[in-house]
Amino acid sequence: MDDRRAFLRFLAASPLYAGLPWARAALAQTPEAVEAPVARAQDALDVFDLQKVAQHTIPPAHWGYLMTGVDGEETLKANREAYARWELRTRRLVDLSKMDMGIELFGNRYASPIFLCPLGYQRAFNPDGEVGVARAAKARNALQILSTVSSSSIDDVIKARGAPIWYQLYTTNNLDVAVKLVKQAEAAGAAAVAMTIDLPVGRNTETSVRLARSDTRTCTSCHGPAGPTMTGRPMFANLGLSGPPLVNSTPSLTWDFIRRLKDATKMKVLVKGLESGDDAALAVKYGCDGVMVSNHGGRATETGRGTLESLPEVVAAVKGRIPVLVDGGVRRGTDALKALALGATAVGIGRPYIWGLGAFGQPGVERTLDVLNNELRLAMGGVGARTIREITPAALIRRI
Ligand SMILES: Cc1cc2nc3c(=O)[nH]c(=O)nc-3n(C[C@H](O)[C@H](O)[C@H](O)COP(=O)(O)O)c2cc1C
Repeated sequence: MDDRRAFLRFLAASPLYAGLPWARAALAQTPEAVEAPVARAQDALDVFDLQKVAQHTIPPAHWGYLMTGVDGEETLKANREAYARWELRTRRLVDLSKMDMGIELFGNRYASPIFLCPLGYQRAFNPDGEVGVARAAKARNALQILSTVSSSSIDDVIKARGAPIWYQLYTTNNLDVAVKLVKQAEAAGAAAVAMTIDLPVGRNTETSVRLARSDTRTCTSCHGPAGPTMTGRPMFANLGLSGPPLVNSTPSLTWDFIRRLKDATKMKVLVKGLESGDDAALAVKYGCDGVMVSNHGGRATETGRGTLESLPEVVAAVKGRIPVLVDGGVRRGTDALKALALGATAVGIGRPYIWGLGAFGQPGVERTLDVLNNELRLAMGGVGARTIREITPAALIRRI
């Protein structure tokens, strides 16, 4: 098939092509015609349709930042592959006339367990940025988590969402600043803080560096001559900071800081970026209100292990005492169903909604949520689950 397409492409490019109407007709019927990028958000049939558009609308350096993993990207791949190791076990003739995909987390209700992970610098993908994402989250009643390295202020984002969001905390090399950030988020109306713990000493994002090299645009107008720094970002603008620039890693961070956080805020406190039962047990011990099983979308430690593979040991260690959220590699509603069946309370998406944002702005994010939520509804119907609670391990078979 590839050979045939290559041959037709060759004909199309040749001056002889005009005289070969059969080739033109044949080309119109090839998968290329079927694969043409969609022109409107509502035409996207799956998240990959949005990815295809976004690859053209997002500039190369920013595309590299979005898509990169670390090192040889084994963990990035493993996140996806983990989902393929599970099959669905169908149940038939269950009354599905009333289905409810809603969940409740810390007293707030959401339309679906699929939530929007924190991703930095969203105006780099589309001018709608985090505020557009907030409007989409409002339209679909989805949980949104806002990054510390957001390109909009938390006040603007919460105003656009019209309801509490969660705040993702990067502690930086100054823990006093972290406490200030958390107090700022609480004052703005955030419901919870998720402290990211998977980047203690930095990372090696090769694809990002390679694609940045291929980008011929002048970046200093946005990034400044010194490159992106933490201090100049909107989240840091009103903290009255002076002194040395802040660095986005905290080698000295330990579990003790959870106690300090809990004392500093009334918000729920979660840790984002653990993958072992041992750490999950410590999170419970130190008073965390929830844990997020995450490897930063394959962008932190190159473990080679998908987050879905780590989920069961975390669920086992937590023993139902606090919610367990998971993210990484979720691209289909069936993926979300598998994570829920293995004990996740909610399932996060990162890159897919940024594909929607990059492709079409706010409507693209809404389409991402619609596509995935509809796929999840279909998968639930297939395994005879009317509610999220009815999704159990019985819905899964491990592929040998
Ligand atoms: C471009 C990009 C930026 C991200 N920025 C942050 C961030 O600022 N804070 C954070 O905790 N996680 C960040 N993450 C990780 C996401 O929150 C999430 O864990 C991950 O994207 C989920 O995997 P997925 O992209 O395969 O869905 C980022 C991920 C990407 C792809």
